[in-house]
Amino acid sequence: MALLAGKSGLIIGIANDRSYAWHIAKAFLEHGATCAFTHLPGERSEHRTRRAIESLGVTNPWLVPMDAGKDEDIATAFEKYAAAFPRMDFLVHSIAFADRDILSPGKFINTTRAQYTSAVDISAYTLLAFARAARPIMARSGGGSIMGMSYYGADKVVPGYNVMGVAKAALECTGRYLASELGPDKIRVNLISGGYLRTLAASAVAGTDSISERVEQQAPLRRNVEGADVGKTAVYLASDLSSGVTGETVFVDCGVNILGA
Ligand SMILES: NC(=O)c1ccc[n+]([C@@H]2O[C@H](COP(=O)([O-])OP(=O)(O)OC[C@H]3O[C@@H](n4cnc5c(N)ncnc54)[C@H](O)[C@@H]3O)[C@@H](O)[C@H]2O)c1
Repeated sequence: MALLAGKSGLIIGIANDRSYAWHIAKAFLEHGATCAFTHLPGERSEHRTRRAIESLGVTNPWLVPMDAGKDEDIATAFEKYAAAFPRMDFLVHSIAFADRDILSPGKFINTTRAQYTSAVDISAYTLLAFARAARPIMARSGGGSIMGMSYYGADKVVPGYNVMGVAKAALECTGRYLASELGPDKIRVNLISGGYLRTLAASAVAGTDSISERVEQQAPLRRNVEGADVGKTAVYLASDLSSGVTGETVFVDCGVNILGA
């Protein structure tokens, strides 16, 4: 069943074939979507992202550079998208950044103003900036679905997650305010709170190695989340199956978040 046939949109955040965004793109493509992509500026990043997308069977992908920390890059990427595609039905925000020097247990107190600001800027503010740029394009399609990736560290203290937890709390709250303002335009905004997955971003947080083992023993589903689990939920959020859902944070973590201890 192709839940996304006839839908097209932009996926931001594929670094390689382990990225959450890669798994989301895989699921979207399997459901008949047309996907466009961005990569971090630079030849190496472009090569890495292109190779990952091509491994999904997409030849000659629509791929433009974008550093989400630069307003002009965001504007250019969305302008190019708007010129190339008649509609934007979905937008996937799957990016985050924090200085890895402060992502280890006991280091939160060392976070400088600049480190704090840049983590919240790249990981949370960008959802707002992308949504603003997407709004007029989504209006052409009569609405759309915007989604971002969060983590349980937004709600509870996860050792070492530190300023990224602050940024994720800001991201989730940003999603709710956006959902409220964009709802009348039939634009839905939701977050997926994904379980721990071994990716480049996850490796920046010290001490996460033990998470997998603990999850396997204690999670209600007695296993770690797989990228495909998040991909399937993203399809649900992009599709009409979730037509009445907005402003939510959906946990896809094999149930870890319901545990008290
Ligand atoms: N891996 C996990 O355990 C986990 C769990 C829950 C949520 N998440 C979230 O999922 C999202 C994707 O992370 P991932 O785990 O797939 O890791 P990843 O390293 O594969 O992806 C992170 C992406 O962020 C991009 N990025 C960083 N700074 C950027 C900037 N200035 N401009 C544009 N792009 C930038 C990187 O290029 C990369 O593509 C992040 O929001 C992350 O916090 C990850």
